[in-house]
Amino acid sequence: MGASDSNCSPSSDNLIGTPSLSGWRPGPRGRGPYQAEVPNVAPDIPNFHPFAGQPPLFSLFRPSSLFFAAFPLFACAPVRLWRILNGDMEYRIAQRAASLSPSLTLSISARAKQMRGDGFDVVGFGAGEPDFDTPEPIKEACIRAIQQGFTKYTPSSGIPELRQAISDKFKRDNGIDYATSQIIVTNGGKHACSNAILATCEPGDEVLIPAPYWLSYPEMVKLAGATPKVLPTNDESGFKITPEQLTAAITPKSRLFILNSPSNPTGTVYSAEEIKAIGDICVRHGILIMSDEIYEKLIYDDVFHTSVAGLSQAHYDHTITVHGLAKAYSMTGWRIGYLAAPQPIAQAVGAMQSHSTSNPVSFAQKGAVMALTGPQTHLTEWLAEFDRRRLYAWNRLQSMPGITCNKPQGAFYLFPNIRNSGLTSRPFCERLLEEKQVAAVPGIAFGADEFVRISYATDMESLEKGLDRLESFLQSLLPNRS
Ligand SMILES: Cc1ncc(COP(=O)(O)O)c(C=O)c1O
Repeated sequence: MGASDSNCSPSSDNLIGTPSLSGWRPGPRGRGPYQAEVPNVAPDIPNFHPFAGQPPLFSLFRPSSLFFAAFPLFACAPVRLWRILNGDMEYRIAQRAASLSPSLTLSISARAKQMRGDGFDVVGFGAGEPDFDTPEPIKEACIRAIQQGFTKYTPSSGIPELRQAISDKFKRDNGIDYATSQIIVTNGGKHACSNAILATCEPGDEVLIPAPYWLSYPEMVKLAGATPKVLPTNDESGFKITPEQLTAAITPKSRLFILNSPSNPTGTVYSAEEIKAIGDICVRHGILIMSDEIYEKLIYDDVFHTSVAGLSQAHYDHTITVHGLAKAYSMTGWRIGYLAAPQPIAQAVGAMQSHSTSNPVSFAQKGAVMALTGPQTHLTEWLAEFDRRRLYAWNRLQSMPGITCNKPQGAFYLFPNIRNSGLTSRPFCERLLEEKQVAAVPGIAFGADEFVRISYATDMESLEKGLDRLESFLQSLLPNRS
């Protein structure tokens, strides 16, 4: 699809720059230099109204009078007032929004917050963000940018300096060549995902999503009017889909496959061979891949991250890589993400973004340049600490009654199987919170109801306390098990 096929024309990249003058002419009534000339399309018909030329009272009843224009308001006002007073105002919500599922994680964290407010000592295992502070050099670069007045609109697809830093990152870390025009800086990694899906999927398309999945993928697909097709996996297969499973799920409607390695919520990391096998199938069937690599740097043991776009020209041509700075630089609140894609897709995303959110925050982009080009030493420390917690928590879970848990190799989550507790994930998490004041995320939110997600992005003391409480909760559920 070429950019010219897009229905969405890019607005001026720099929104404060001179607007394009093509199609514009000086206004007919001299109201400004850029006023559009509106052709006179009103038909030239005589005024047939019977009250024409009558005294002013009659003209009240002319069809064009204010009285007639306002009549529906007068007529409907009592009904409206009655509804408002009864609190039964009806709002018509567009189908695309009405079909979305509200976030389960948000309701659990709202309850946890309320309990904390009521004085309970709640241990939070729900965090989707590192508990470390954003490194100083990044913060300083941002503060400098503000002090130097870098506080205005930027090109909507991101400042050239940052797009270059991202292009260099792909070359350095993944061996992939992306021109800066193939890179769009977005308002967080989530925005990069939704942009990629919106630009490529539409009603009638199916999007293949392995479960457990990051909870926003299916909702983004629904927002685009396309259909999520979930491919279930379980702990026995290491939460990985097999080439056979993927092949069997493909239909003529398959448009996009979502790959997330390292994975949220399971911490699973696909090997290079596994990624190649899946990528080959997508290439063979002409299916695009959205590869979400936001946890790329958070990886343990001796596994490696593989970018599917780097495997061959054909894989590159079929892949949109989405990424962000939230996890590896603890910049969740900064809202800086990015995507890299074949030129026509990048161009379409750039056009959409120019008409929706416009540029990501100007000074946050300067911080992002520092994150990608500055010192990376914080990562060594963070990884060592995450790894220590990962192994501690995983070992503890192994010895708890009614629980089995795969050893995750990436991200900062554990995804234990709670099937033997006799509870499904939602009542499990609700009771864990009410009875032991530990907040975890029910696996049902990720399409896996026999699991719960435990984030170890929290300090060691809280981790120990929360795991002690989880163990005592399981013992209360399964008193005859050691
Ligand atoms: C797999 C995955 N992709 C994308 C995102 C979006 O990250 P953000 O929008 O905070 O940059 C997240 C955040 O939790 C995630 O877990």
